[in-house]
Amino acid sequence: MDEKKKKSKAAPIAGANDRVCEHLSFAAKEAFKRLRTNLMLKVPEGDRCHIVGVTSAQPSEGKSTIALNLSYSLAELGKKVLLLDADMRRPSIHLKARIERTPGLADLLGDSNSITACVRKYQSSKNETVFDILPGGNIPPNPSELLNSRRMATLLKTLRSAYDFIIIDLPPVGAVIDAISVSKNTDGMIVVLRENHCPIGVFKDCVAQIQEANVPILGFVINGALEGSGKKYGYGSGYSSYKSYGGYYGNYYGS
Ligand SMILES: Nc1ncnc2c1ncn2[C@@H]1O[C@H](COP(=O)(O)OP(=O)(O)O)[C@@H](O)[C@H]1O
Ligand SMILES: [Mg+2]
Repeated sequence: MDEKKKKSKAAPIAGANDRVCEHLSFAAKEAFKRLRTNLMLKVPEGDRCHIVGVTSAQPSEGKSTIALNLSYSLAELGKKVLLLDADMRRPSIHLKARIERTPGLADLLGDSNSITACVRKYQSSKNETVFDILPGGNIPPNPSELLNSRRMATLLKTLRSAYDFIIIDLPPVGAVIDAISVSKNTDGMIVVLRENHCPIGVFKDCVAQIQEANVPILGFVINGALEGSGKKYGYGSGYSSYKSYGGYYGNYYGS
């Protein structure tokens, strides 16, 4: 490999993904608009802020990508949105949105950092769509304790008064209790399932855990589903398809 090629390969920020928000294809943007519409139909109307968690059974199913693009899509409508990165073990929103990771949620919960010091803005390239992001912060030794703390519940109560939507990017439900702990402070959950990624039994366990915690499931996103693949997972109704694009942002099932 020559020097020029080496340089261009090293240029992007590690893990950063340009294919988010305004950089998505038309078809992917449409898919997120449909997800936004379906979500707005599920939550009660009125002035109240809606706190929505995004989770999945396993890592890498597309939670953070979907949480970020859903936030953008809601902000495009003029909604006041906060995207909160609560995947403290593997925070990634800062990479996708190209903002600083610290200080963030872990620092806010762990010591005396102020909300204003930790919240940053996502600004579209044309400065049109803006929403707030509370990134993960310094990776703490005790994420479960922080996420399950009274301080976390109080923080969400405080933030509720300032936004129309708070979208929480959660860890997978799988091995640790973090996602279920936070879900109890939400109004409901969106569960992401990546096509050909998660064994159906693992997915069903994830759904069962959320249901056992008595947290409403607002809907499912099938990420990476090929349009017309005819695959259904036996959960929910109100299926709406979308037009696929190169990378595919999936179908949404209202529960
Ligand atoms: N529909 C999709 N098409 C192509 N790549 C995707 C899609 N959804 C997610 N990805 C990529 O897969 C990786 C994992 O996605 P991410 O949103 O970080 O997953 P999670 O938050 O569930 O761990 C990222 O590199 C992301 O850019
Ligand atoms: Mg993630």
